[in-house]
Amino acid sequence: MKDILALVEPHLREVDAAIHRQCEAFDPAISGYVAYALGSSGKRLRPALALLVGGATVGVTSRHVDLAVILEMIHLATLVHDDIMDGADTRRGQPTPNARWGNAITVLLGDCLFAHALDLATNFDDAEISRKIARAATAVCTGEILQTQRRFDLNLSHADYFRIIELKTAALFACAAELGVLVGKGDPAVAENLRQFGLKLGTAYQIYDDCLDLAGDEDKAGKTLGTDLKKGKLTLPLLDLLRDAPPADLAVYSQMILRAEDPESIALTAAVRRSGSLKRAIATAVELIEDARVQLAVLPPSPYGEALHAIAQKVSEMIQRFGERPA
Ligand code: IPE
Ligand code: IPE
Ligand code: MG
Ligand code: MG
Repeated sequence: MKDILALVEPHLREVDAAIHRQCEAFDPAISGYVAYALGSSGKRLRPALALLVGGATVGVTSRHVDLAVILEMIHLATLVHDDIMDGADTRRGQPTPNARWGNAITVLLGDCLFAHALDLATNFDDAEISRKIARAATAVCTGEILQTQRRFDLNLSHADYFRIIELKTAALFACAAELGVLVGKGDPAVAENLRQFGLKLGTAYQIYDDCLDLAGDEDKAGKTLGTDLKKGKLTLPLLDLLRDAPPADLAVYSQMILRAEDPESIALTAAVRRSGSLKRAIATAVELIEDARVQLAVLPPSPYGEALHAIAQKVSEMIQRFGERPA
């Protein structure tokens, strides 16, 4: 991934520096919490998307850097809240804010991060840009609420699942790619193609993350895994397992999902591997990435456009490699 991002490396460094500077905007009584949350560094996928799309259209500007900072801060706010809901104690290789300070402080810390990101978004002279950012934030929270409402709901359909992950994850990827065009005052038709690109890539990415939660390695991921089953979140491999199971197995799997203790989680993980439903979920994500890449045809040839293809390819390879791992 490093090689692909080399093109925007100086801009990503600017983004990182700007993110760290944001602590100064908060009351000294809370800036320690903010500094801790902002100090962790993830893969910076959403900033990279916004910057590369900028490069592939009108060129990377300071507005793209501002956009990238805002998107990463919204992402972080959603993670801060998500870890409360999932009861997760590790993220990005360090204790989560909820593990350190409890849920009461942490929910408000997440609120502050959201609010500050939207405050930064008001600096764009075009209200349409800030509106799209705010709506993406609403989409993420809506997806998280829908998911929470449908916990342990064995009637969750594939369509329901895709709607949830489009809202909670893909909407922000879509926003990054679309606004990467629009903050540079690029062509709105191209922005629509890039929005579709982000939507499909983001959906595939969440499917990958859901497979990781079931069958991944916590140390490598740097975050608490296994919370989806514990919290009753039915993700694609599970939905495929239930859809394709013979009636006798279906009853057993359903009981296991509802009990959600460690032995059931282990048995369900073995079942998604054995039945091929983990592989099927991975194949779905890989297909989605292929679809996503079609949208990049609108871009004029450039190293930035190639880097966007390469990111999609990289995510696809990550997913496939994960599928090939032995049980
Ligand atoms: C984690 O996102 C949450 C999902 C949407 C799957 P990332 O995998 O992009 O997390 P960081 O930013 O690299 O930590
Ligand atoms: C993604 O869901 C979180 C958001 C979009 C806020 P997950 O719950 O799967 O994310 P991780 O696995 O905790 O990173
Ligand atoms: Mg989570
Ligand atoms: Mg997850």
